[in-house]
Amino acid sequence: MCGIFSFISREPSSIATVLVEGLQKITYRGYDSVGVSVLHNEEHHVIKAVGNMDQLAPLMPKKSLQAHVGIGHIRWATNGSVSLQNAHPVASKHFALVHNGIISNIDDIAPRLPKISVLKGETDSEVVVHFCEHLWSNNRSSFFSLERAVELLEGSWALAIACTKNPESLLFARKQSPLIIGEAPEGFYLASDIGSMPDTVTELTFPEDGDYGFVNTKEIIVYNNKKEVVRPTSPHVTTQQTATKGSFSSFLLKEIHEQPDVVRSILKNNVQKTESSSFTPSFAESVRIRTARMHLIACGSSYYASLLGVHWLEKIANIAASPYIASEYYWQCAEDKMCAFISQSGETADILRLFSEPLKPKAKHTMCLINSAHSSLSRLVPRVIPLYAGVERSVASTKAFLSQITTLFLLACAWGGEEGRKHIAKLETLPTLLDTLIKGSYDFLATNIPPLLDINHYIFLSAENLYPIIVEGSLKMKELSYITSTAYTFDNMPFLHIHPHSMLIIVLNKDHEPLAHEALALALQDHAPFVIVITNGPSDLIPPHCLHLETPECDHLVFPMLATPFLQMIALVVAEHRGSCIDQPRNLAKSVTVE
Ligand code: F6R
Repeated sequence: MCGIFSFISREPSSIATVLVEGLQKITYRGYDSVGVSVLHNEEHHVIKAVGNMDQLAPLMPKKSLQAHVGIGHIRWATNGSVSLQNAHPVASKHFALVHNGIISNIDDIAPRLPKISVLKGETDSEVVVHFCEHLWSNNRSSFFSLERAVELLEGSWALAIACTKNPESLLFARKQSPLIIGEAPEGFYLASDIGSMPDTVTELTFPEDGDYGFVNTKEIIVYNNKKEVVRPTSPHVTTQQTATKGSFSSFLLKEIHEQPDVVRSILKNNVQKTESSSFTPSFAESVRIRTARMHLIACGSSYYASLLGVHWLEKIANIAASPYIASEYYWQCAEDKMCAFISQSGETADILRLFSEPLKPKAKHTMCLINSAHSSLSRLVPRVIPLYAGVERSVASTKAFLSQITTLFLLACAWGGEEGRKHIAKLETLPTLLDTLIKGSYDFLATNIPPLLDINHYIFLSAENLYPIIVEGSLKMKELSYITSTAYTFDNMPFLHIHPHSMLIIVLNKDHEPLAHEALALALQDHAPFVIVITNGPSDLIPPHCLHLETPECDHLVFPMLATPFLQMIALVVAEHRGSCIDQPRNLAKSVTVE
């Protein structure tokens, strides 16, 4: 998705280099064009490229311009095609801007522009920059032009704007799209993603919906509705997580290997057996309120994690839980229920829209499970349970998904009374089991899954509480390899779909032997050329021509956590055979931040 990274330096400095470094850190979000603009000698020096950062690099000047202000952007085309004209920054005579979000009343704004405004592209953002220019021609104040513009615009925006008349200042505005300001000794950074903030940043300021203002070399001034306001700040804690792949061939593979530590971190931060409680004070506080019914609301992989959460909440905690895809949710009769939002980024637009007019929260109790600290969602919901997955750089989610299902399991244990708490022991052994499973698995799979390039249909099969992980496994296959893949439970499998051009991936709880027989007999008779079967521990049922993957022996309740890394690695190996771009698959956004 689109990302903003802009910088205002206290002293003139090589702004373009700083912008490229910052943008580089958010490329994991997925993008199709990139651009930077440096304000130097009352002129916007705009450099843009269609494609990725590699296409931008050769266009950069050998000697970086020394300036105070620069704005940068990666674009994911939603409004207007992928083209140089539509790439950001977009500029008029005096203004240059970068924009995340969508202006919904552009048809009302565009006719207000004077006839001489030359629009080169097709985007709403370009109309906005010319609109600011038009307003400025009347009032000669960049700040009042922005103030008037945000009064008239509708939709969503995070904006960083440079004006040639204010070479030591950067304007900003935000509404329903994230924007954070970081202060460092060398200056101020405006970014849509906290992950792009340099380690030098000491303090973060969080503008709120409808805020606008400016940052100069000394201070941040924030306005809302024509009044100056003070917004909350918080210290910037750097994660110390390296932005490098280390010895791994991709961030995805690295993040799959980080999963045992993610579970360790979840346990360390939430479970603490003392006389008075099984949980740390913060987790105990998060689970203090238990409702008999719950709604779990999420998108994409996070939604599949919720499906598993629903199963555990019902089985372990006896809570009637229902899953909802956020775009389909309207606070349905939610007054007496706990509404739990599950999101890696905390910035997914379909979730955030539930907190704005005309919907507004209708639940008495809300909570969220979020990986990205300081996200917009974490500021909207009172009870926040962090996921402790660390920064996920691969666009396709792996360790964040595992952190979500593990935390949902823990929640079910916490609400399951004495009996529920007994299940926590199953989580305590999980990191070591994951270590054992993950070690060597990738090499084994890379050697044993043949490069079946003519296979164009992957079928995932399972039963009971394993369905959510095979839909997630199937999603990983689609995301990484662009292959059609489908997930079915045994009961609902349209058998005709298995044919010599399909590959079958079966996840079986070995205690369900009749099902196993049925599935494997099917696989044989229908001639799927390649069959992978994943079981929890050894099983004699698996015919020799199937590739049998055994997780360490484990209880069926935690089998989903152990089968998941296998499914992730299968998708990775197939994608590598097909030559796909693993960390930034084509047309895939990490979280969808526009509606
Ligand atoms: C899949 C993936 C997406 C996200 C979805 C929700 O690999 O990354 O499907 O799971 O966009 O995003 P969050 O969890 O950030 O709300």
